[in-house]
Amino acid sequence: MSIQFTSSRKAASDCSSGYMVLGVYDDTDFTLSAAQTDDLTGGALTNVVSRGDLKKAEGSCICLNSTNGIKAKRVVLVRYGPRNKFTATVFGNSIQGLAQFLDASGADSVTYFLDDVELPERDVAWMGRRIVETLGQAFYKFDQMKKSSRMKRKSWKVQIAAQSSADLKSLRQGVKVGKALNNGVALARDLGNLPGNICTPSYLADAAAKLESHDNLTVEVLEEEQMQELGMGALLSVSRGSREAAKLILMDYRGAGDDSQPIALVGKGLTFDAGGISIKPAGAMDEMKFDMCGGAGVIGAMETIAALKLPVNVIGAVASSENLPDGAANKPGDIVTSMAGITIEVLNTDAEGRLILCDALTYISKYKPSVVIDAATLTGACVIALGKHPSGLFSNDEQLTEDLVYAGRLSGDRVWPMPVWDDYQSQLDSNFADVANIGGRDAGAVTAACFLARFTEKYRWAHLDIAGTAWHSGKRKGATGRPVPLLVQFVLNHCA
Ligand code: BES
Ligand code: MN
Ligand code: ZN
Repeated sequence: MSIQFTSSRKAASDCSSGYMVLGVYDDTDFTLSAAQTDDLTGGALTNVVSRGDLKKAEGSCICLNSTNGIKAKRVVLVRYGPRNKFTATVFGNSIQGLAQFLDASGADSVTYFLDDVELPERDVAWMGRRIVETLGQAFYKFDQMKKSSRMKRKSWKVQIAAQSSADLKSLRQGVKVGKALNNGVALARDLGNLPGNICTPSYLADAAAKLESHDNLTVEVLEEEQMQELGMGALLSVSRGSREAAKLILMDYRGAGDDSQPIALVGKGLTFDAGGISIKPAGAMDEMKFDMCGGAGVIGAMETIAALKLPVNVIGAVASSENLPDGAANKPGDIVTSMAGITIEVLNTDAEGRLILCDALTYISKYKPSVVIDAATLTGACVIALGKHPSGLFSNDEQLTEDLVYAGRLSGDRVWPMPVWDDYQSQLDSNFADVANIGGRDAGAVTAACFLARFTEKYRWAHLDIAGTAWHSGKRKGATGRPVPLLVQFVLNHCA
């Protein structure tokens, strides 16, 4: 099921959609198009709203059927709440409420009148994009593993209407970005939701290879033999515990000249994390199929960036492996040698993410990246520290930190800075190797980042710990598609 999004310049009186959506602030404080419709219908909107039928909470909706004086079959009023409290978040919540309403109503042709909406630091392009993203992602369904997946709702139409031609121009841009983002987010969610027996490292590699259908994007996959030659002893040590071969997936998008240094995005693509010999408890272990969401996020972001033909060079790298307890698996106390030459004492085989990432982070420097951003479901400790709203942000560069926080606010895919101070490094001391792969109970998310920091000293680097944000548990169990919006926003801002 998909939604076809379009934009147009239209007056409320010209709308002949099945569902015409109009915003209402507090009480009968109508948006422009709502006020016009109220006039055309002889006060039908005022009647309904002053009776109290439209609830006060932002995102509340009510439907007026067969209203005289207009062409549209139905009018849907969506509550924005008081103008003086209207923010980007409230706008987002309103659209979320609308999505629920449209889902329940089975609407198939909708026109949203985007007018009379002002938000600080947000233009019409942003608003259009937010509508496309919120609706598109609300109607995402993962049913490809179900026999009855043919029960899909048909594809349907959402048109966003602007009042002026200047608004329309901006709106078109936003709708375009929103559509491309939805595709990247859906790809990341699909890959995340697929089970570990299907979404293996080679499946991820094949999924990435499909991106070659885009202009200027090539994909190369390093096999274990090549990794061996490169000395990626840390990555390979994790993969040895499983029957699936590890893959280092490299996506090379060239949207700018050869002299332009690329942005590098590196993802943890651990397609199932049982913990290895330091095996995890059984409860909710199924959720460790989501341990490749960093990798999926990088693949999804590359998809969107290539579709938008952004004028920038971007390298996407996904280190992909399983982490299982086999006879050849890492054992606690084993010492492995990374590509950087740094020896690592594997005190806990469940701290495998950093082992596969460190070699990918070393390898990536051959592209001379202007900045490297990795995304990984790295630590349960990050969820304890920050919960499930922001991803943890760790960086060796203040400007990069600022840019990512800003990209997070703009995209709604938020991050929050955490320290990577040298003070923590001694927690990783090993009696037998250069570094241990765990740092004890204190600040687990920080020591994981500090481990990675030892391999990223030569470039500007940020690490996103997405353990709390990449998927939902419980009734809504499923991948969120984060950090695709954040990564794409960062690259968009870089291009602006
Ligand atoms: N993939 C997990 C992190 C994780 C756990 C994310 C639970 C989301 C929910 C990672 O590989 C891991 O197992 N980390 C360990 C590190 C520890 C052994 C130092 C953790 O967080 O428990
Ligand atoms: Mn683990
Ligand atoms: Zn893991």
